[in-house]
Amino acid sequence: MTFDPPALSLSELRALQLERLKDSIARAYAGNAAYRAKWDAAGVSPADLASLADLAKFPFTTKADLRAAYPFGFFAVPQDRIVRIHASSGTTGKPTVVGYTQNDIDTWAGLIARSIRAAGGRPGMKVHVAYGYGLFTGGLGAHYGAERLGCAVIPVSGGQTERQVQLITDFAPEIIMVTPSYMLAILDEFRRQGIDPRASSLKIGIFGAEPWGEGMRREIEDAFGIKAVDIYGLSEVMGPGVAQEFADTQDGPTIWEDHFYPEIIDPVTGAVLPDGEEGELVFTSLTKEAMPVIRYRTRDLTRLFAGHGRTMRRMNRIHARTDDMLIVRGVNLFPSQIEEQILKCPELAPHYVVEVTRPHRTDEVTVLVERRTGADDAACAAAVAGVVARVKDIIGISIAVDLKPPGSLDRSQGKAKRVIDRRPQT
Ligand code: DLL
Repeated sequence: MTFDPPALSLSELRALQLERLKDSIARAYAGNAAYRAKWDAAGVSPADLASLADLAKFPFTTKADLRAAYPFGFFAVPQDRIVRIHASSGTTGKPTVVGYTQNDIDTWAGLIARSIRAAGGRPGMKVHVAYGYGLFTGGLGAHYGAERLGCAVIPVSGGQTERQVQLITDFAPEIIMVTPSYMLAILDEFRRQGIDPRASSLKIGIFGAEPWGEGMRREIEDAFGIKAVDIYGLSEVMGPGVAQEFADTQDGPTIWEDHFYPEIIDPVTGAVLPDGEEGELVFTSLTKEAMPVIRYRTRDLTRLFAGHGRTMRRMNRIHARTDDMLIVRGVNLFPSQIEEQILKCPELAPHYVVEVTRPHRTDEVTVLVERRTGADDAACAAAVAGVVARVKDIIGISIAVDLKPPGSLDRSQGKAKRVIDRRPQT
């Protein structure tokens, strides 16, 4: 069995996508009352789809649509064909629920196997999975895919950081799959136990589920002496493995376009934008059975590019979601922009939180960031002044930086919470 992406020319890929898209749209219409009602109201039907461009005639699907149909209203197959249910945590309101048929689980495992292979993984390697197991798609998604590739899975899940280090040391996995922020907590624990992280067996880290920049990539690669690659996905579209960065190019995740058709839209007007322009990523599933998603708005901002020597397109690494954008005194601010400035300073650790308050009817931003162990006071003060000045120059807002002792900020065991917005809700 090969797990490499199919070698298709661009015209072959587009033909395959059109054939699968027609099928997916027809199945959504026939099997799901919510799609039928929405498309009938919009005056479109599966017969209106003759080309890939015709997809733009169909309405978007949003998280609110999925919530309104809680729990199973977006399933398009009879309940007895569902073999797995996952749900996204959802910070407010009801979670969004997703279902899988046996074929869906097989496709997903195959795509994660393909992703691990693209990351440099090979059969016979051991994979330490520290993504959470449970309703979150990270743990079980990684697990089935690693097994499918022929790896030995170590299903640790998140948490119990001391034990993570012990298991990595004793079981000697070559690959780790975990959120990048939790990888940093594992790094701290290696150091606390006096174990050299570079001496570990790890060679490859497959990190995702949250934004992480190039500075964070360097930090993790240097500390462990590994190759760090990006895996992208979301539960509504499948889970991890919708797109995967290749280890040989490390140039942003390649979208597995034989299963997911991407569009970039203007988040305000909904107009489809050409490749290369930044906008909101929208996905249509081409092969999913239990829960086809048609034009699902991810709220993630990115651009699409031609693949380097590959037919399937690449996306820019996600640095922001439309929901993470803070509007501070009218200026748009993403936590990743602050992360980038912090990671330029060797005196500052990559552990930070952005706090926004409104004490006197004006927004104030304070960045809490840890100093590195052993960093000198004067150098830390200069680093902080540098961050404040660069944020002012580049983003155009004044911030305060509150320097914290090493180890004092909460560590994530899954997705890191980077923003604390204490402004009164209006
Ligand atoms: O986070 C699935 C996943 C698990 C992906 C493990 C990768 C690894 P959700 O909980 O539904 O699913 O959250 C999806 O997380 O819309 C992005 O905003 C963010 N996200 C996922 N991967 C990345 C990434 C999983 N590589 C939401 N870079 C998505 C940046 C990411 N953000």
